[in-house]
Amino acid sequence: MEHTTVISPEQIAAQLDCCQAVARLTAQWDAQPLAFVDTYGCQQNEADSERIRGFLAKMGFGFTDSEEQARIIVINTCAIREHAEQRVFGNVGALVHVKRRHPDTLICLCGCMAQQPHVAKKIRESYRHVDLVFGPHALWKFPEMVHGLLVQRGRTFSVDDEAGSIAEGIPVVRQDRVKAWVSIMYGCNNFCSYCIVPYVRGRERSRRPEDILAEVRQLVSEGYKDITLLGQNVNSYGKDLDEPLDFSDLLEQVNAIPGDFLIRFMTSHPKDATQKLFETMARCEKVAPVLHLPFQAGNDRVLKVMNRRHTREQYLEKIKALKALIPDIVLTSDIIVGFPGETTEEFEDTLRVLEEVRFDALFTFIFSPRQGTPAAEMDDPMPREEKLANFNRLTALQDQISEEKHAAYVGKTVRCLLDGLSDDERYDLTARTPGNRLVRVVGDPAALGQFRDVRITGANKWSLFGELV
Ligand code: 5AD
Ligand code: SF4
Repeated sequence: MEHTTVISPEQIAAQLDCCQAVARLTAQWDAQPLAFVDTYGCQQNEADSERIRGFLAKMGFGFTDSEEQARIIVINTCAIREHAEQRVFGNVGALVHVKRRHPDTLICLCGCMAQQPHVAKKIRESYRHVDLVFGPHALWKFPEMVHGLLVQRGRTFSVDDEAGSIAEGIPVVRQDRVKAWVSIMYGCNNFCSYCIVPYVRGRERSRRPEDILAEVRQLVSEGYKDITLLGQNVNSYGKDLDEPLDFSDLLEQVNAIPGDFLIRFMTSHPKDATQKLFETMARCEKVAPVLHLPFQAGNDRVLKVMNRRHTREQYLEKIKALKALIPDIVLTSDIIVGFPGETTEEFEDTLRVLEEVRFDALFTFIFSPRQGTPAAEMDDPMPREEKLANFNRLTALQDQISEEKHAAYVGKTVRCLLDGLSDDERYDLTARTPGNRLVRVVGDPAALGQFRDVRITGANKWSLFGELV
């Protein structure tokens, strides 16, 4: 395997110097400048935005939810489906008015959309109010780019195609005080035929275990209770490291960190989910009894054209092995409906997997062609109405299963993490079961951030309801 490019500590120190240089400039402005950071897409993007905020804080920026008040606007984008891209184009287009009213406001577009050449071209040509465009590979150079814009104006594009790198030591401003994301690896080597991620996030590369463990220890000492290890394909963690260490070994080491906290991880690819992983999950008391294991489609011909490299039977075997070790495991999955050439008969194999596995929840998507991926070039004869009808059958079946599974919690007492204040006035708090099911809870809001027993008193297809014991 090729060696990963590591950004040196000196290079990061130079970026922190740029932050200070910006801070000296911003200190001369009338009031503390504010930054608006908007994030689309997955948890990896949330984690990247926390780093962007970390850099911005070092540059002297405070934060605002208003584009009007911001001196810098950062839109961190997602390219996974067309719908997400359309929303970004709409919102970025509307910023032209903000720029007209406040010409000094810097407008930055980053993330997975920015890494696609045709998007960068479109922004360059048709969204001339955007000052800075950079892809995920260039995030570590954000301070240098902002500094450049402030001292010499003009526009900056940093969207070169690269395999990607690892950068340690970037400051972080986290959005939550109870739950935290920890990226353990970046990129993806799988090239599922519908997916843009390998093109925009580069090759798989793993952070060193000592860096990950140090970050988790720090989070635990700060009181974080729910830690999610992130990667596009966490099961292939470590393949590019010199030391012989795989994802299960890493989980074991994170589990050994003292403290009362839960460990989650996502996303896993079925082809790399091993018996060793399942045994490790069963043995490690801090690892939450939940697995997000996308299967995408239930038909072997479709799976093959998707380049998933597993069959329906292999998937079901793995689920069976996992349930044998952890009977109360909470299972979730991703499914694509309407992949090019999938017939309604083939789609019905997906329904059969649902009936057999009985997932607790699903993330369901209608196929969206992504420029540059093989699937975007495939014949796609099924009319949209038929795809929609299949999609509705899928969600109706899952709603029924989710409702039944949730109903089985009623009357039980479950140790939950109280992770937020409720926006529904009938409840005080939100909580998560160990399996990450949402619970709306009546009880003293002072318990926020604690693990507490919750008696489950009701349920519907989306969530559970309960009261603090
Ligand atoms: N169209 C629809 N859904 C997609 N996903 C990835 N690419 C596409 C696409 N082109 C879904 C997959 C993946 C999840 C993150 O998004 O189900 O697991
Ligand atoms: Fe995309 Fe497949 Fe990689 Fe997941 S495993 S990020 S679906 S290419």
